[in-house]
Amino acid sequence: MIKMYEDIIEIAKRRGFFWPSFSIYGGFSGFYDYGPLGVLLKDNIIKIWKENYLQDSTAFLDTPNLTPEPVFKASGHIDRFSDIACECTKCKNKFKLETVLKFNKIEKIPKNLKEGLELVEEFKLKCPVCGTIIKNISDFNLMFKANDMYLRPETAQGIFVNFKLLYNYNKGKLPMVVGQVGKGFRNEISPRQSLIRLKEFNQCEIEAFFDPEHLEFKELYAYSEIKLLPNNGNPFYGNIAEAYDKKIIPNKALAYFVLKTQVILNKIGIDNDKLRFRQHNPDERAHYASDSWDAEAIIDDEWFEIVGIANRTNFDLKNHDRESRESMKINIDNREIIPYVIEPSYGIDRIIISLLTQSVYKRDNGYNVLKLDSRVSPFHLAIFPLMKKEKLVDKAKNFYSELLKNDKYIIYDDVGSIGKRYARQDEIGTPYCITVDFQTLEDDTVTIRCRDSMKQERKKISDLLTNKYGEIIQ
Ligand code: GAP
Repeated sequence: MIKMYEDIIEIAKRRGFFWPSFSIYGGFSGFYDYGPLGVLLKDNIIKIWKENYLQDSTAFLDTPNLTPEPVFKASGHIDRFSDIACECTKCKNKFKLETVLKFNKIEKIPKNLKEGLELVEEFKLKCPVCGTIIKNISDFNLMFKANDMYLRPETAQGIFVNFKLLYNYNKGKLPMVVGQVGKGFRNEISPRQSLIRLKEFNQCEIEAFFDPEHLEFKELYAYSEIKLLPNNGNPFYGNIAEAYDKKIIPNKALAYFVLKTQVILNKIGIDNDKLRFRQHNPDERAHYASDSWDAEAIIDDEWFEIVGIANRTNFDLKNHDRESRESMKINIDNREIIPYVIEPSYGIDRIIISLLTQSVYKRDNGYNVLKLDSRVSPFHLAIFPLMKKEKLVDKAKNFYSELLKNDKYIIYDDVGSIGKRYARQDEIGTPYCITVDFQTLEDDTVTIRCRDSMKQERKKISDLLTNKYGEIIQ
């Protein structure tokens, strides 16, 4: 497999998708800035996510990042949202114990600190950087604390604590689907690989509330084949409805949101041959989940979780009911219940790095092309005057203003040769480019070029005043 991750990191910085934050002060691992193109790409991805969930009558919410301690005491994050950390006594590098075990080729995952200490004793684990024997390990809570508040490690709790208000908004009906776009913060022990493990990251989360006796949503429609890796070790490749019938995903609502996740990731541009859904082993699940499936995308030759889809049962609502003393119970057909929750949680940063790595390729001349769909590409179209001559520039700028009336995602560029400008647009994923030349001054026609086929055609300006350039040239 051709490895593109390093190339993407370089292109992203040079072209303005993303780069390490605070670099003039030496950089701090775990923080990345989105540049001008990254902001547009991220917005487009979130728009696709939001529009697809609007089809499920989702209500969206926006709650604070800073959250008071009692919320995370109730949710279990204060007591259980931790990793086992180790620090090398010699080189002072910090690692997750899991990473050190992997490096030392030990396949066990400790359930708690006691088991971790036993493994450290038994295997005399070596530091992955300097080889010194690891001695110090400790429980490390992943939340950032600010006085008596915490920065939220997930956006979900902002939805759970508002359950009753939302239920009222939803006119007392279940199922009820609620979404939130926002930042999550985790004091990751070893932040790494650009956008993959950040201390501050972007989540789009859905909490779908159900009557536990009716854990089903819409019908499971045939979309395309889905690749499932259940924890029984028998991979499944087929239709989601079949996976539900065969009890591979035994819960219809969970199966629906796995399917929906594939639909959304495909629309964003993640291909099915680079996507799979893996079920967690019981010892891997978060403290709140009874079943979890990760959408995993391949980056070069490594699989990464990009979306987590969990059955959270009524774990969170039950705990908030008890700790806040505000009832989370509702009455349905004379039954008092606390709803169950299915949660598809999308990590936007990981979706972005997977999408970019999977979309970039090199032409025979060595130039990079970012094959993004126009639904997500920062710009739909670029417009150039052939040369920086006054008449061509004026004509191109007039045409640009006209085009902007139908489509705001257009970029004007008159810097460098035409070849350089095509290459620049190819590398940032712009699907079409238009050039205004001397013939334009005579007959109001321009050339339109397609990024993927590199075909160029002459068209009338009046035919291009649309945002459906793909219908004009393929
Ligand atoms: N509310 C459930 C939850 O937060 P998660 O599996 O811990 O579940 C969901 O996170 C998604 O958020 C992940 O699939 C991943 O894409 C993203 N994510 C989690 N931690 C991250 C980090 N440190 N950096 C970047 N993305 C992260």
